[in-house]
Amino acid sequence: MPYSAEFGDHFYCREDGRLECDYVFLGGNGLVSRWPETIDFTIGELGFGTGLNFCETWRQWKQQRRDGQRLNFISFERFPMQADEIDRALSRWPEIDAEKQALCGAWPERPTGDVSIDFGSDVRLTVIIGPAEIRLPFSAPVFDAWYLDGFAPLRNPDLWSLDLMRCVFDRTVAGGTFATYAAAGFVRRNLQAAGFTVERRRGYGAKREMLCGVKQPA
Ligand SMILES: C[S@@+](CC[C@H](N)C(=O)[O-])C[C@H]1O[C@@H](n2cnc3c(N)ncnc32)[C@H](O)[C@@H]1O
Repeated sequence: MPYSAEFGDHFYCREDGRLECDYVFLGGNGLVSRWPETIDFTIGELGFGTGLNFCETWRQWKQQRRDGQRLNFISFERFPMQADEIDRALSRWPEIDAEKQALCGAWPERPTGDVSIDFGSDVRLTVIIGPAEIRLPFSAPVFDAWYLDGFAPLRNPDLWSLDLMRCVFDRTVAGGTFATYAAAGFVRRNLQAAGFTVERRRGYGAKREMLCGVKQPA
């Protein structure tokens, strides 16, 4: 169960991070119902961590992808883990064993620069290394859905600031969405001030609330 001493927080919920990912990020962005209607779909993530969200997303994508569809997963990570650490963390879930093996097999031993990996012709993973608040402003406005996963907001407020939420909004396509387990008032207000229409939903497990929302088409 990976834990960050620097941020004083776990990387995902202690009950089952994979099911939490399914509920919060895939469910909150409505991905399973949106994927059939797209050719290219781009997910952005703040906080790659162990790659659990990527592996679970890829697993579900494989189950329903049609010929010609492509998934682009672009994640921002300030402190990249090593392959053996990712392997250890994800070994808890036999459901994503194939994805974990493929990820760890292609992951650089000690990532120093951005990581870009093609898994076949339909899935590309890009991990942009460095503080998201510095790297995201240089990204193109291509994101269909966001996973906002940067530790608890009070423990890592930089990743939930109004400036960064504006940057996320500006790089989201019209009709694009975000989802997060966070429910703090300042996060909700920052996302609203950035321009998202924000919805509160019941959270995963013991969490009372989570947030998701949409960038309304103009
Ligand atoms: C809750 S964990 C993410 C869990 C991850 N999505 C997974 O599937 O394992 C939060 C991540 O955000 C990263 N992080 C913290 N501050 C950051 C920043 N300013 N920019 C980019 N990444 C950051 C941490 O290093 C950590 O890996």
